[in-house]
Amino acid sequence: MKVSIQRENGFVEYDVALKDTTLLELLSEIKTKQDNTLAFSSGCRSSVCGSCSMRVNESEVLACSYKVQDGDKIEPLQNVEVLRDLVVDMNRALTYNTKAKAWLVKSDKCVNLNHEDEKVNALQSDCILCGSCYSSCPVYAVNPDFLGPFALTRVWKYVSDKREDHKQTKITEIQTNGVWECTLCNNCTVVCPQNISSKADIEKLRMKSAQYGFMDPNFGFFDGSFPSSSIFMDQS
Ligand code: SF4
Ligand code: SF4
Ligand code: FES
Repeated sequence: MKVSIQRENGFVEYDVALKDTTLLELLSEIKTKQDNTLAFSSGCRSSVCGSCSMRVNESEVLACSYKVQDGDKIEPLQNVEVLRDLVVDMNRALTYNTKAKAWLVKSDKCVNLNHEDEKVNALQSDCILCGSCYSSCPVYAVNPDFLGPFALTRVWKYVSDKREDHKQTKITEIQTNGVWECTLCNNCTVVCPQNISSKADIEKLRMKSAQYGFMDPNFGFFDGSFPSSSIFMDQS
């Protein structure tokens, strides 16, 4: 089958004698038999480490689980710095977990979790930091300060944890370049290999923000009065 891979100077086509294979196996075949300069990242080879995420035909996939098709166009993740070929630098996005203070701050008193409590944010705990959601996010594409999908999902994970002692602080931290900037487009949900919906988590964070007295800054405040120039005068 033939595939095209985005390299430093544009797309390069490769013809590979493999069928019914994962994209990662195909890339390894190209590297070992055709072109050892091809660069890509991988680790676990079993959809666990998140290091092999890339784009195929303009959609994010994990190379170790995606079954490659004839004619596929393969590119690195977008909205992040490309280091070489399909290898990108996720460090800036990963620092947003720190910026959003996305960690557990436990109180001094002992709080035990039961099975139901653990289920509340079990899905959010499954994030493998693959970066696909950042690559697909139209807000992160134009605003590199946006905290972005996985950092906000992680904030929800801790805000919804009954052991968390600083929920209001966490909500306050995400008011700028955070919870209100999202357009709720749902791209991040569609591409997530772990079926996490950052969009849904952001909606829950918005509800929590409202409970703490924050409001969407995109809505103006109406105090009930009109400027005098706008009052309708009956001339008849
Ligand atoms: S939320 Fe999903 S898409 Fe985003 S980094 Fe985590 S696993 Fe990847
Ligand atoms: S739903 Fe929000 S966070 Fe997710 S991709 Fe769209 S704008 Fe980005
Ligand atoms: S190599 Fe680890 S997720 Fe693909």
